[in-house]
Amino acid sequence: MTIKSIFLQLMSAAILVSCSNQPETTEATDKKEMIVRDQHTHAQPDVAVATHLDWVAKVDFEQKKIMATANWDIKPSADATEIIFDIYDLKIFEVRVDGKKVETTVGEMDVHMGQALIVPISPEAKEVSIAYETSTGARALQWLDAEQTAGKKSPFLFTQSQAILARTWVPIQDSPGIRFTYEATVSVPPNMLALMSAENPKEKNAEGVYTFKMPQPIPAYLMALAVGDVYFEAISDRAGVYAESSLLDTAVYEFADLEDMIQAAESLYGPYAWGQYDLIVLPPSFPFGGMENPRLTFATPTILAGDRSLVALVAHELAHSWSGNLVTNATWDDFWLNEGFTVYFEHRIMEKVYGKEYSEMLASLTRAELFEAAEAMMEDAPNDTKLKLDLAARNPDDGVTSIPYNKGYFFLRLIEEEVGREKFDAFLKNYFETNKFKVMTTEQFITYLKANLLSEEQYATLLADEWIYETGIPSNIPEVPSDRFAKVDVILETYTADGQLAEVQIVEEWTTHEWLHFINSLPEDISVTQLAELDAAYGFSQSGNSEILAAWFQPTIRAGYEPVYPKVEYFLTTVGRRKFLTPTYKVLIDSGNKDMALAIYEKARPNYHAVSRETMDALLGYSE
Ligand code: BES
Ligand code: ZN
Repeated sequence: MTIKSIFLQLMSAAILVSCSNQPETTEATDKKEMIVRDQHTHAQPDVAVATHLDWVAKVDFEQKKIMATANWDIKPSADATEIIFDIYDLKIFEVRVDGKKVETTVGEMDVHMGQALIVPISPEAKEVSIAYETSTGARALQWLDAEQTAGKKSPFLFTQSQAILARTWVPIQDSPGIRFTYEATVSVPPNMLALMSAENPKEKNAEGVYTFKMPQPIPAYLMALAVGDVYFEAISDRAGVYAESSLLDTAVYEFADLEDMIQAAESLYGPYAWGQYDLIVLPPSFPFGGMENPRLTFATPTILAGDRSLVALVAHELAHSWSGNLVTNATWDDFWLNEGFTVYFEHRIMEKVYGKEYSEMLASLTRAELFEAAEAMMEDAPNDTKLKLDLAARNPDDGVTSIPYNKGYFFLRLIEEEVGREKFDAFLKNYFETNKFKVMTTEQFITYLKANLLSEEQYATLLADEWIYETGIPSNIPEVPSDRFAKVDVILETYTADGQLAEVQIVEEWTTHEWLHFINSLPEDISVTQLAELDAAYGFSQSGNSEILAAWFQPTIRAGYEPVYPKVEYFLTTVGRRKFLTPTYKVLIDSGNKDMALAIYEKARPNYHAVSRETMDALLGYSE
């Protein structure tokens, strides 16, 4: 952290402390929107805030850069002398305030935060125009060569702005608590379609110029752009899929239940607020499973299993249309308010559409994953097992673990079990309605919870403060009884006791989730011979299901089952989804195969998005 950024942070902290005796937040007053201190922005929204963006951009695949002008409508306070934007490695050409050229100051570079772009203004200023281009290293952007796409004919570009990478492609007040509306005009090469987190075109035009509008205010981390040779197909009159032509039919089949999911979500927690809901299937290097960009969820192709078994991810991203996109975590320390609520909502959608027996399998897998993750984290990052995180001066990406997702989920499930579903649903529906288009801190949520649902006594009995502010998993975490997994456990016991494989009729009826439970529960000391036997019987190494394959890599690599190695290499060089990369590289390292891991990584690394690359560099101790 630089002296300058420390100074800026102290300044913003001081402003807040002076208007409140609570250092964390100040309550909303009639006049002023609540102001929350976000450690990950240079912006000072209480001095001057940007409210609307008109973005005019040209996407240049030859030079791998975006040339653009960001025209911001701004609202200065009565004594404002400057407005501050976040930038990261942007090349700024010219800045104008109400048409008049001004001299700006660029703060020192901080490795996580980037720089402050300080623009002098008067309290009457209305518009700031910033002409700029992106740098080659822009971390939000991934420029793919044609070979890295399904069609292998056209290049592809996509952005990933969450958590604080929007500033690498737009000069922006990059804080989840600052919302703005936007419109955009984007020029792309012929035969490519541009799409944003906005009202989108459904087909290409000859000029390659596309216009966009996002009339509802969104935070910077939900700014998104994708450019590729993609096509649209509708699933219902308000939902559809974009994908490369060779994947479109598969995707439409896989996501056939999309409209049912939207209706299930609406019946739970109120109307879908964003009009259209589409998905775009990205190339396999997309570093996440999904990203909830408003109106257009970005999704990994690794959920195209052919049998709709991995669509919980769609339920998850859809759920963010309420939890996250309507009610937004105030800072990245409150990330569990986005993700924990979303996992809870996701499970409820899955239960409504596919039944409780099915959704409880998912919840059971979630629980096992949580315990495993928490146990590992208690060793080297115990504080990150608290729901309320402390990410000051760190990369907010450090907070993206199983904790905000799954510990968050089980905390909410515990509250549901305490008050009953009917009461909890009414509470949640109200929570979304009352707080839509606003931010929420953990402390505000606690206040809201006590005012609207739990007595002080109930709050204490549930160990709520322990859940939120202490490390590890509290003892009152709900159990998840799953009959279907209990049956899998019986089969597993028979196999480990007598080496007897299950009868075909039994396993034929298993879903992906039963198989995952089976693979994850194999004994630690399983032998190579047994793994070969299981592989021969059930064909795990040949599985077209990415979750099964990734799960299968764990016991096989641990035991040194060599026939799986070519699959591992193929997977790691074609898929960039971090959730799969991390455990696979980890088990290679832990099983004494670090050389193999590094050899594969050398080949694979150029295909990974910066987000995955940074995590794997650290894991493998790799430097260029
Ligand atoms: N918003 C997240 C992805 C994210 C989080 C990106 C933090 C950058 C920083 C998204 O909704 C998500 O949680 N994706 C999961 C899906 C899963 C939990 C169903 C993923 O990518 O694996
Ligand atoms: Zn999420």
